[in-house]
Amino acid sequence: MMSHETRKVKKVGKFRKIKIFDTTLRDGEQSPGATLTHREKILIAKQLEKLNVDIIEAGFPIASEDDFKAVREIAATVRKPIVAGLARALEKDVNRAWEAVQEAKKPRIHTFMSSSDIHLREQFKISREEALRMSVEAVKLAKSYCDDVEFSPMDATRTEPKFLFQMVEAAIDTGATTVNIPDTVGYAQPSEFGQLIAAIKKNVPNIENAVISVHCHNDLGLAVANSLEAVKEGASQVECTVNGLGERAGNASLEEIAMSLYTRKQFFNAETSIDLKEIYPSSQMVSNFTGIAVQRNKAVVGENAFAHEAGIHQHGLIANSQTYEIMNPEMIGKKSKLVLGKHSGKHATRQVLEEMGFRLDEKQLQQVTAKIKQLADKQKTVLEEDIVAIASDVTQQLRSEEQRIVLDELKIETGNKIKPTAKVRLIIDGKPVEATGSGVGPVDALSNAIGNVVPAKISLKEYHLKAITGGTDALADVVVKVSNGCGVLHDAEAINEDVIMASANAFIKGLNKALAKKKKRLAK
Ligand code: KIV
Ligand code: ZN
Repeated sequence: MMSHETRKVKKVGKFRKIKIFDTTLRDGEQSPGATLTHREKILIAKQLEKLNVDIIEAGFPIASEDDFKAVREIAATVRKPIVAGLARALEKDVNRAWEAVQEAKKPRIHTFMSSSDIHLREQFKISREEALRMSVEAVKLAKSYCDDVEFSPMDATRTEPKFLFQMVEAAIDTGATTVNIPDTVGYAQPSEFGQLIAAIKKNVPNIENAVISVHCHNDLGLAVANSLEAVKEGASQVECTVNGLGERAGNASLEEIAMSLYTRKQFFNAETSIDLKEIYPSSQMVSNFTGIAVQRNKAVVGENAFAHEAGIHQHGLIANSQTYEIMNPEMIGKKSKLVLGKHSGKHATRQVLEEMGFRLDEKQLQQVTAKIKQLADKQKTVLEEDIVAIASDVTQQLRSEEQRIVLDELKIETGNKIKPTAKVRLIIDGKPVEATGSGVGPVDALSNAIGNVVPAKISLKEYHLKAITGGTDALADVVVKVSNGCGVLHDAEAINEDVIMASANAFIKGLNKALAKKKKRLAK
């Protein structure tokens, strides 16, 4: 029978320490639909530091100039965690990764090379010997810069075990201090993955000189189970992401790993250093910035994770909360539903927002407080999600000198018997400009009207609409990508109770971002 473990934290030192390597800003940002601005990446990195992760994988510096700059700033900003930059096993990648992380108090270069025959033959068209040689060269170069080097044989779970052992041994011999075993395509089953870790411990003679890490993808929904099985077999670093974001179906979810290891500490004889009460604020921040909502019934951080509906459960809970609760919301920093509304002042708003990870200046705070009051006048309850949305909208607003286009007036005509048309009056570089447009729907008409008065090169590339709270009075959250015509996409987001206004504000915000560096006057 499984014993009910006590909630009390046992003395640190009794349990094996499992390092949490957070890759939200690298693998997580590779999630379809998840893009983060530079500022959002920095805020997330600071929040991860509060969460007390051991390692932040801040990005893939060679991938783009934006990635490079974000990794470099994160390296210079956070002090407690190790900051890792990812690099393929190529000289230019390792050099760039080092350039990005060198200012970190604790820098790490994470280099990787595929090890499975299917990757080597079909994708890279190189032999195993060549892959081995490239891996050794990359680790050697990384080691010449930095003591802390991680090596990953990509697609490890579909690699012939003997070759995997050989690659891991060579990486450690060359100086890798962490060897990460990725289940890149989420193919492994828990017992099988556990056996692979045990086999690595048995068959890699120098394994004691490195930390064994695991990096599991969730294609079959087993990323957390596989990671935990690996911990049982001796892995002491787990790579994971907030809300389980990541390529395709995502990576192992940080909050599930942390709460399993906390709740079943005796079973695993292991613990992490995660500050549990920062779990929920981190989850909210990442969901809000990426625009990827947390599934309601998601373990630990989902809206329903602590909601008890059945009468028999509620009855038991009243008698003793442990009857049906193995964790409670306070542990993960989830407060009971917030009650900010018409009567809430600036101080309460500031406190609530700071708990959610927002840092607002005085002007932004006033704007958020005013918007919450406005919403409370229209909507019965102002939910936590509404507050997060409003705050993120306000903190993303451009400085006024960068707002070259301002919306003055907007009229929409639509119906089942007329072609939707939009009439806009914009103030462009201080001068009023009017335009009309029609389209298949009101949002399309609006976009066409605005498009008629901005340079043709600048165009709307993506449009996403999400209702933040349920109901017909829900706040609409619109996220757009606007191209500046030179290959750069600018993200913008706006929140409003009116879908059309949220769309107009998001378009204009995106246009202002795209125009921010162009000096040419637009208004004739
Ligand atoms: O999934 C994977 O294999 C990766 C590597 C770069 C570690 O993300
Ligand atoms: Zn991955």
